Amino acid sequence: MANTQTLRMVVNGEQVELEITPSDTLAMVLRERLGLTGTKIGCEEGECGACTVLVDGLPVNSCLYPAVKAQDRSIRTVEGLSKNGELHPLQRSFVEHGAVQCGYCTPGILLSAVALLEQNPHPTDDEIRRALSGNLCRCTGYLKIIEAIQAVAASQ
Ligand code: FES
Ligand code: FES
Repeated sequence: MANTQTLRMVVNGEQVELEITPSDTLAMVLRERLGLTGTKIGCEEGECGACTVLVDGLPVNSCLYPAVKAQDRSIRTVEGLSKNGELHPLQRSFVEHGAVQCGYCTPGILLSAVALLEQNPHPTDDEIRRALSGNLCRCTGYLKIIEAIQAVAASQ
């Protein structure tokens, strides 16, 4: 195919290799080429955070992230959070605290929270709010989300 290049990256622990074009975004590649539709698309302008995934452990807006930049990097999406059929502690806590309503923001918020707790296992409320400042939720008012993250932080 003309104007394509080979992208090699690790997605949720698995090496993948596929042909992409320079204009492909990471969100598009994850959703449309790899079938990982847990990564949501909202604004496509870097405003809502619904498309947040982790690249080498750091949250990025995958709707704006050129897929070519993912070369040789490690990507984590919401599909990679559960292990052996068990929900990630943050996923369980979100359910228990009623932090999921429509759920559209949830994958992105979970990944921002995973990155936060990996870097800072016991964040303050302000640190949690700051970590989630790029993720919009129109349903929950954030309080239950913050409580769900605090509960996991307190348990570790
Ligand atoms: S869809 Fe990427 S920030 Fe909104
Ligand atoms: S739960 Fe609906 S946007 Fe957050």
